[in-house]
Amino acid sequence: HRHLLGIEPLAPAEITTILDLAERYVELNRGPRKHADALAGLTQINMFFENSTRTQASFELAGQRLGADVMNMQMQASSIKKGETLIDTAMTLNAMHPDLLVVRHPHSGAVDLLAQKVNCAVLNAGDGRHEHPTQALLDALTIRRAKGRLHRLNIAICGDIAHSRVARSNILLLGKMESRIRLIGPPTLMPAGVADWGVEVYDNMREGLAGADVVMMLRLQKERMDGAFIPSEREYYHRYGLDAEKLGHAKDDAIVMHPGPMNRGVEIDGTLADDINRSVIQEQVEMGVAVRMAAMDLLARNLRSVPQEVTA
Ligand code: CP
Repeated sequence: HRHLLGIEPLAPAEITTILDLAERYVELNRGPRKHADALAGLTQINMFFENSTRTQASFELAGQRLGADVMNMQMQASSIKKGETLIDTAMTLNAMHPDLLVVRHPHSGAVDLLAQKVNCAVLNAGDGRHEHPTQALLDALTIRRAKGRLHRLNIAICGDIAHSRVARSNILLLGKMESRIRLIGPPTLMPAGVADWGVEVYDNMREGLAGADVVMMLRLQKERMDGAFIPSEREYYHRYGLDAEKLGHAKDDAIVMHPGPMNRGVEIDGTLADDINRSVIQEQVEMGVAVRMAAMDLLARNLRSVPQEVTA
């Protein structure tokens, strides 16, 4: 593939290749010397049109550790503020010959559109409610390390599914790897057409969590809700927030995940989120750097083997 725009086009073997390479970068990142040269001589530009802590920082570190020249565009201070369009902005940066463009954007499909216009590799760092492929890959690596496999696991994804690109990319990836997926949340926060997704849907946490190996919590994405009805945060926590009592319905060794940023006391109990015997939330962050190193390494190998043409 020339770009990493989503999980949808990836074959299971390609997902395994990314995760296997990421394992090697986990070891590198834990060692005293964190540098490799997979991106030496290449230029990486990060364009985040939406706030980010984990994804932005880990893409930046990943590029630096692999030897790229990494530039973070300050989108709030860019000429977007003067009315320049997304595509004109991308074409302007494209003229400076970047090799890798990492893009986060609030609109679903914006990153795919941009990728059609530039002649470098584009990585989707999250577009609207569409996809967040590197999040699903880092979640898969975390699950595989904790459970030893990705197939035939019972995975519960809980909360605001409708507005979540994390849920969408995870459902695609875990489905390809033959895990069983249950979605748990209020009917108002389930996407239209979910009945055709090949997943089980629950409105009740205790029923949905029964026998789960993995419990993945999601943030209420209020910025994408367009007036959709949700209960008060207090009522939401009571019905759908994960605490030790509700987790007791999952398997005894079930792991607790959250992509972050989390709202303690809304979708998850703070003590549970910090419980290193159950929560792998910090490991998810660690895996994020390694997975992004692996994804950019593999795209760079492609760049070096295929002469790039200007397509716009
Ligand atoms: N999980 C995730 O995408 O976090 P950020 O929004 O902080 O990047």
